Amino acid sequence: MASIVGVAICQLGISVLLAIISVYLYTQKVLMSDNHEEAHTGPIKTPKSFAWLVFLSFVGPIFIIIGLVNYVVSQTKPSAGAAPTAESVAARIQKVGAVQVRDANRPLKAGEDVYKAQCAACHAAGLAGSPKVGDKTAWSPRIKTGYEALLNSALKGKNAMGAQGGGEHNDTEIGRAVVYMANASGAKFAEPAAPAN
Ligand code: HEC
Repeated sequence: MASIVGVAICQLGISVLLAIISVYLYTQKVLMSDNHEEAHTGPIKTPKSFAWLVFLSFVGPIFIIIGLVNYVVSQTKPSAGAAPTAESVAARIQKVGAVQVRDANRPLKAGEDVYKAQCAACHAAGLAGSPKVGDKTAWSPRIKTGYEALLNSALKGKNAMGAQGGGEHNDTEIGRAVVYMANASGAKFAEPAAPAN
């Protein structure tokens, strides 16, 4: 609604401006006609046509603006059947630059849970050339590189694997998932402790 009010104010401004120009032109004509009779050649010859000009200068822009407003508003209307949900409303009315608060003290997920949620998509079946969990032959050369190296790959990504396997987990949780996966594939890594807060 605020935008419509703004447009209306703009329209008022434009109308006033046009009216002032019309009045100015008319008075020019009147002044000129005082001196030169032949100056009565412009489109504004009588007070009646002047009244028409003023009227149109007010009304014309109104229709143009109504048309524009309709056009703009129709663009932002939600499509048919897209009833606003509580979520979509909340998303629309949220503050600009809202801060997403993540609870740093939330209990960390266990490695197995992270694995199931984030890593199993590839590593359960060995998709995209990933070492399949439980496949000791695939894992043993990797396990030899050490936990830190594997954690680093998991955190930063490696070839077809995105950083954190594409997820948004806490680093310790990723570490636990790495340990879970590696230990299920022949390693004997110790579970990383939660960082002290
Ligand atoms: C999109 C598929 C995909 C997902 C999801 C994925 N990975 Fe991977 N992962 C791969 C691929 C592919 C490789 C093999 C990369 C290579 O060595 O070229 C790999 C390799 C690894 C390695 C061995 C890295 C090394 O240095 O040899 C670890 C550890 C690993 N992933 C952990 C994880 C963890 C933990 C998750 C979940 C948080 C995860 N991955 C999710 C595809 C995936």
